[in-house]
Amino acid sequence: MTGATKFPPNFLWGAATAAYQIEGSPLADGAGPSIWQGFSHTPGLMLNGDTGDIATDHYNRWQEDIGLMAELGLKAYRFSTSWSRILPQGKGAINQKGIDFYSRLVDGLLEKGIEPLLTLYHWDLPEALDHIGGWLNRDISDYFGDYANVLFKALDGRVKKWVTLNEPWVVTDGGYLFGALAPGHKNRYETPIASHNLMRAHGQAVKNYREIGKHEIGLVVNIEPKYPASDSKEDIAATKRAAAYMNHQYLDPVFKGKYPDEMAEIFEDAWPKPWPKEDFELTSQKVDFIGINYYTRSVTAYEPNNWHLKAKGVRVPHKTYTETGWEVFEDGLYDTLKWFKDNYGDTPLYITENGSAFFDPPKPVNGKIHDPLRVDYLQRHLKAIHRAISDGIDIRGYMTWSLLDNLEWSLGYSKRFGIIHVDYETCNRTIKTSGRYYSKIIETNGEALDLKEPFIDTIK
Ligand code: BGC
Repeated sequence: MTGATKFPPNFLWGAATAAYQIEGSPLADGAGPSIWQGFSHTPGLMLNGDTGDIATDHYNRWQEDIGLMAELGLKAYRFSTSWSRILPQGKGAINQKGIDFYSRLVDGLLEKGIEPLLTLYHWDLPEALDHIGGWLNRDISDYFGDYANVLFKALDGRVKKWVTLNEPWVVTDGGYLFGALAPGHKNRYETPIASHNLMRAHGQAVKNYREIGKHEIGLVVNIEPKYPASDSKEDIAATKRAAAYMNHQYLDPVFKGKYPDEMAEIFEDAWPKPWPKEDFELTSQKVDFIGINYYTRSVTAYEPNNWHLKAKGVRVPHKTYTETGWEVFEDGLYDTLKWFKDNYGDTPLYITENGSAFFDPPKPVNGKIHDPLRVDYLQRHLKAIHRAISDGIDIRGYMTWSLLDNLEWSLGYSKRFGIIHVDYETCNRTIKTSGRYYSKIIETNGEALDLKEPFIDTIK
């Protein structure tokens, strides 16, 4: 080993999950239903009719899962709390049993020296709040702030890194514009309003945290860098629109107190004008860090038939694509990290998700799951991060997506992202080769990235 890829001391190596994707038992111990409960039980909306009723059964197997994390040597675990376990109606009465579940989980992690990173919202809005407008209701920023306070009071100190929202872009693009995700609306007039209320809710939680909490709080965004398909004026303009919509829309309100100019062009008459000025005081509350979720890039071309972006993604030949149709492109992660620093400055960064769905068999073969493409993906992306750190970007940690195979939202159990395999008939867990490899990387603080593939085969 050359030591060329050694990471900074205290680099936070971890793995990520989300409540509805892994927990199962969604209505146990007094929890209220979330919008995913309703969505997944509506015929025709989920691939193969899958639901999160059992998922990986983490709600009952959390101790075993902490054991696996310890076996892998994880330094951190990013998970989300289910709002409707804590407040079954989304507001009002608190369900102590919901708090107790996460409190036990946090204690279990701390006992093993694993730092918890807690995400307050990973897409599972309480159904009761959806009944009063969900993210379209301006009051939701207060409801979210109150929910956040319950957890700040219960867990701050034991939890030292808090995330308000996971990927507001997906919440609105999937939930309010195209309807592939809960609550399944398809309404371009709703979309900017839902986005804006998400950002106000984020700001409200950060503001509350400054009164109650003593540690760090940030926002997680998904960034997909956009590269023009050609040098044509049209392709370059389309690329700018796509980048504004997906990448700038949720960072500009935090760091610049406004939306990118392209938003009005994109949403045309559906873009509300003007936004109340004081709202941006809320959205631009100072954050302690930004979490970046990175999976792929998009090569973008002008497409007049696409109503809002007038843009489309173009497939790049001779490249590896994952099972979700995403190009493996690690340079995009490097470019994203650099882009963040150039646009928004020196706020500390965590990679809060990065990973790949590749085919794995439903059951282990000879007790093993060998996943060379995921190993390759991991290696490439970690090297890109190392390069970004060497170039002076302040990256504090990496959370691979995902700890476990899990419910890939409306794609059900058809896509496996885990470094730990889950047999969905028995819920048995098997650490994949990628998990063993990741463990070795953690143990050597990155140096194992220099090892060549043949060694990976022999990792025990
Ligand atoms: C989400 C995860 C999801 C992953 C893979 C991210 O957008 O935060 O919940 O499973 O991507 O699609």
